[in-house]
Amino acid sequence: MCGIVGYTGPRQAAALVLEGLRRLEYRGYDSAGLALIEDGRIEVHKAAGKISVLEKALGAKLPAGHTGIAHTRWATHGAPNTVNAHPHTDCGGTLAVVHNGIIENAGALRTALGKRGHVFRSETDTEVLAHLIEELLPGTGSLVEAVAGALHQVDGTYGIAVVSTREPDTIVAARRGSPLLVAIGSGENFVASDASAVLAHTRSVVYLDDGEIAVVRPQDYRILDLDTVEKEKTVTRVDWDLATIERGGHAHFMLKEIMEQPESVRNTLRGRLLEEEGTVRFGGLNISDEELLKVQRIVITACGTSWHSALIGEYMMEELARIPTEVEYASEFRYRNPIVDERTLVIGISQSGETADTLAALREAKRRGARTLGLINVVGSTIAREVDGGIYLHAGPEIGVASTKAFTSQIVAMALLTLKMGRLRALSILQGRDVVRALAKLPELVSRVLTKAPLIEQLADRLIRAQNVLYLGRGYNFPVALEGALKLKEISYIHAEGYPAAEMKHGPIALIDDLMPVVFIAPKDGVHQKVVSNIEEVKARGGRVIAIVTEGDTALDKLADHRIEIPETLDLLTPVLSVVPLQLLAYYIAVRRGCNVDQPRNLAKSVTVE
Ligand code: F6R
Repeated sequence: MCGIVGYTGPRQAAALVLEGLRRLEYRGYDSAGLALIEDGRIEVHKAAGKISVLEKALGAKLPAGHTGIAHTRWATHGAPNTVNAHPHTDCGGTLAVVHNGIIENAGALRTALGKRGHVFRSETDTEVLAHLIEELLPGTGSLVEAVAGALHQVDGTYGIAVVSTREPDTIVAARRGSPLLVAIGSGENFVASDASAVLAHTRSVVYLDDGEIAVVRPQDYRILDLDTVEKEKTVTRVDWDLATIERGGHAHFMLKEIMEQPESVRNTLRGRLLEEEGTVRFGGLNISDEELLKVQRIVITACGTSWHSALIGEYMMEELARIPTEVEYASEFRYRNPIVDERTLVIGISQSGETADTLAALREAKRRGARTLGLINVVGSTIAREVDGGIYLHAGPEIGVASTKAFTSQIVAMALLTLKMGRLRALSILQGRDVVRALAKLPELVSRVLTKAPLIEQLADRLIRAQNVLYLGRGYNFPVALEGALKLKEISYIHAEGYPAAEMKHGPIALIDDLMPVVFIAPKDGVHQKVVSNIEEVKARGGRVIAIVTEGDTALDKLADHRIEIPETLDLLTPVLSVVPLQLLAYYIAVRRGCNVDQPRNLAKSVTVE
């Protein structure tokens, strides 16, 4: 998500941390900031927007301090403005913190700290850390003890770096869930969220594990556990080139983002599941349960991949919450005098939060009196600001043009919203608990699907010369067929079509011959037997069948030419698992065909024009 870099040593820290930030900018770029220790004071500079804006604000004469920390932000809590940019300081302005991750109990800590007289300046979860450390520092022997004490009080994930005037040449860094490393120089040391920030200066790094704290000074560093007991760690030599490191060792951002899905799905779920009550909680819905109960109809509007997750959302809402739901292409909705009123809930789904058609559709819905909700990935984006309320996906920055991890997080967010709406209506607590438990298991199940990558890579070899591919699915997996086809089209330039499996016989069946690969999404769900019949129809015409099936399902052993297994889950959640092999298949085919996977021709990541 965000990027962190820190430096302590004889050189001018500001220049070095700014250079590191530029290397980390691909991780997020809605605001940036740095804190330096200078003449026994903390000097903080922050700016909304890209790092170049911060550089411009600093001008040619950079602060002179020798110890500093810096951050480039990808917002999760609070709008991406200057006040919410990191670093965050305590009341006295004597210490500064940068943070990646999410402090889940920030709300409760903030209230308690406020009662004890702490004054908050930002809306961020991070600022509670600065105030907690401030409270503990006078009673402890060192900065690291105060940081450890504060970390004992927080739930959630963090990668942090802290500086304080009390120990002016020390950086304390800690990790739980967000990557962090110490990079070892000669008479100088760095901390960073990934090695690309510091590789120009050293290739010797110590990767922190969860629950570890580093105390970093110019001449030495120590690694401790959260009880401040010292640990031995190995120094790793980084041999990768810079570009590979930015992509986490993967050849492309798209592959990195596909592989990140266990984590991105976990982040969408984080802090939202209430297992006992069989429901969910949201921070920013801004619509009361009473108002949600008054909703008579739902319209979901979106474009492209997000439109596919909207279709899955429609099936969920109608099945579990029993609310009539329609899905509209945003580009159509905005120009066709749609019927919406104050009893209609209009939901916009968008990774970027900037898609022009989706924005216009939501504005139109609002103008007609509907309540609007956004399922958005980019915090503080235009749609996120304009809707009445929403659910952030927290999937992290998606850089590859083809959307992957945003799609699975959108499905998960739709399932969460359906659960909320369903539990307010007919869905029983027992049914609710089943869905909650199945959601909680998803990250682990996605990891299992990802282990199939080598098999899918081999399969891709057999498909690189295909000129057309048909994707077929039914029920919850019909939109997955559309998504699988879209992925292949956009990055490999092979013509592909997604279709409801049973509709095939009303036309596309004419295309089937032994040159036509047909991908069936056929997990063991409520329509499985029907899909098997559709596969028979294809086989009878000589088609080559690739089937996505549930683990242990042998029914298709003889029929399918190739099978890719996914674990079992509830029907409504199968798309989160069944789409992953299709993303990988499209990726490997495109790579084999020599296509520019991260920046396919004619496409843009965010379509801000009509
Ligand atoms: C496909 C893809 C696009 C987007 C569409 C909407 O891989 O990325 O189809 O899904 O342009 O974008 P967002 O979700 O940002 O509104």
